[in-house]
This record gives sequence, C-alpha cells and structure tokens, in this order.
Amino acid sequence: MVLATVGLRTAQSIAAEIADITRSDSSGSPVRHAGINPRVEQSGNVKKHGKLKKGGPRCPETFCTTSEREDSMMPPALARTKAMEQTILCAGRQSTVAELSSSTIGFDQPVSMTALINAAARAQECERPDPLVRDVHAKSLAGDKGRELLERFGKFFTTIEAVRAKFFDDSICKAVSEGIRQIVMLGAGLDARPYRLSCLGRRILWVDVDYEPVLLYKGRVLQNAKPLCEVVNVGKDIRDADLAQVLAEGGVNLGLSILWVAEGVFQYLKEPEVEDILARLRASSAPGSEIIFNAQNKANLVRTQHNAKMLDLLDELGTPWTFTTESPADLLDRHGFDPKIVFLGHAQAHYGRLPWPPSDSPATGFPCEWLATGHVKG
Ligand SMILES: C[S@@+](CC[C@H](N)C(=O)[O-])C[C@H]1O[C@@H](n2cnc3c(N)ncnc32)[C@H](O)[C@@H]1O
Repeated sequence: MVLATVGLRTAQSIAAEIADITRSDSSGSPVRHAGINPRVEQSGNVKKHGKLKKGGPRCPETFCTTSEREDSMMPPALARTKAMEQTILCAGRQSTVAELSSSTIGFDQPVSMTALINAAARAQECERPDPLVRDVHAKSLAGDKGRELLERFGKFFTTIEAVRAKFFDDSICKAVSEGIRQIVMLGAGLDARPYRLSCLGRRILWVDVDYEPVLLYKGRVLQNAKPLCEVVNVGKDIRDADLAQVLAEGGVNLGLSILWVAEGVFQYLKEPEVEDILARLRASSAPGSEIIFNAQNKANLVRTQHNAKMLDLLDELGTPWTFTTESPADLLDRHGFDPKIVFLGHAQAHYGRLPWPPSDSPATGFPCEWLATGHVKG
C-alpha cells in the first residue's frame, strides 16, 4: 500500500501520482485505504470490466443474465474476471455476501447501522421498473440485516432515499461537468457511487470518509467490483480536527477545488459539531469548491404517519436524529458558501415520486428536508 504525500500540486501531477500509486498497489485494486488498517482482502485483481447492456448498469437480475451469456464468448482471463464480478453482483440471490450476518458486520458505532438502511432502500428502489437510482451493489451491501431494518423503518423511506439520492447524483454530476475533480464524501456509509455513477471517470478522485469498520465492510463486499474512478478510503470521525491533514496524506490536493458531500449524516450530529465541520471544510476549500448536504427542520422530529416508524427505530438503535436547522441558507452563508437551497418535494427534487405535489416553498411549520448546496464565496 503506497500513500501519496502531497503539498500543492497540479492536477496533472496528481493524476500521474494516482496512476503510479494504483500501479504500485500490490493488491492490484484501484481502491486505496488511507488512515485505515488495510485488513481488507483485495483478491479481486480486476484488470478489465466486462460490457454492460446499453443504457448503463442494471439491477442484479438483468445484469446476471447478461453477464452469464457474455461469459461464454470471452477469453478465459476476462471470463474469470466476469465470474468474480458476478459473484458480488448476484450476491443477493446467491448468498455469497449474505453470510455477513449482523454479528460479522462488526460496526462499532450505532449510527453506522443506519448505512445498512440506506443501502437497503436503494436496493429496493433498484427493483422498480423505473428506478431513480440504479445501485446494483446495494442489495449485497445491505444484506439481510439492512432489509430487516428497512422493513421496520417503513417503506416510505425508500421513496425519500431515492429522491434524495437522485438529487445528489445530479448535483455531483453537474459539479463534475463544471470541472470538479476531487469529491470527498463525509459519512459515506455504503454508498457505491464510484461504482455506478457514469459521470465519474479515471480523472476523478473520490474519497469515502466514515468509521473504519464501515469502510472495511464495504471493501469486503465490493472487493471484486471495479470503481469507475480512483477511490480512497479514509477511516476517520468526520468531527476530528485533523481530517484535512489525513485527507491530504491520502492524496487530496487541498490547493485544488473539492466537492464536499454530506448525505444522510449531519442529522446524527449536534449543532456545534455541524458548525465546526462546516468551518473546517471552508478552511480547506480552494476557490471553486462546493458543498452539498441534506438537513431537516425541527418539525421533522415530531412524529407523523410518515416518520413515526423511523424515529422509533432510531431511538431503539440508540442513534436519534439531533441536528436540525430552520435556515440552511444562513448556515452556509455564515460559513462562506453561496447557498442554493431546495427541499424534498421542491419541483427540482420531486421526480413525480413523492405523495404530495411539487411546490416552490416549504409549508411553514411542516416537516421539511433541506437539500443544500453552496459554492465557496470569493
Ligand atoms: C445514514 S448513513 C448514510 C450513509 C451514506 N451517506 C448514504 O447516504 O447511504 C450515515 C453514515 O454516517 C456515518 N457517520 C455518522 N457519524 C459519523 C462521524 N462522526 N464520523 C464518520 N462517519 C459518521 C455512519 O457511520 C454512517 O455510515
């Protein structure tokens, strides 16, 4: 395992270093682990990816059928690679990864269990004929435990997760199309965007930050999958003051713009912690940097028919929602970002899927989930 030590570098030198690091990583995996004890077995020396059907990745059922058919026409080495991919992609049906019961998942923080719920929701969304998000790895990542938790969380969450994830997907791809080359996902959980978002490519550095056991688990489940971009895993509490330093040691160039992504994580923190994180992200944001996060208003913590099951389960897991804001625009503005705020159900974040009509402004006093984006000022 080779980690880059970076000062201020050009995008080209970063790309060259990344290529070197990837080549010299004895595991052969393009995924690197910074700040993580690399216990992940990297047996998947995937050199090449087989073709997916036209139209991008499919949900597991379709993909398995396709790859089984294609295997018979491939040279043996590539067919072996395909077979390894298939084991993971079809794990929901074939149980390779289902062996990871809750006792072997090994998460050490109650909040980390929520990552299983999000993955289970994306897996369920993926089973629809018209999914907003096609996450072929979600089923394996969620496992039986995730499905069980989602059942208790209430299936309405699948709709919320799908709409939110689609909004984040679109925002991330927009940032990439505008020139962002480094993406840092805080509280990454079992998100698999580096494996599914086709707007990402080899020129993108994607960094997952979460507690180490979460990233190790994800690494095990995805060990044979091939990311579309460079991926670095940073096992770290996002509240730690030395986060930027560890990111830099992992290959992030703090002299270049970064897209900070915090999806489904701020609600588990306390207000001063969110304020601190935003201040530190701003301090580590070169011109051109952006942020995207979701947050909720206080009314969302009051039980309704839509959220009662969620609040009950989170209490039971010992990880209730805590952080709320009535004005994410003020929050971003105070921390040096030009805010642009929509909310779940806004015309730009509805996709015809929520059970209420799209609207331009949130109803006063009603539950609201903000989708906040901000460009660094100046
Ligand atoms: C609800 S999950 C969301 C995961 C992912 N972003 C998604 O949308 O699927 C919350 C994640 O945040 C992580 N998390 C919460 N607090 C954290 C902290 N202080 N430091 C690092 N990770 C944290 C948890 O471990 C968990 O994986």
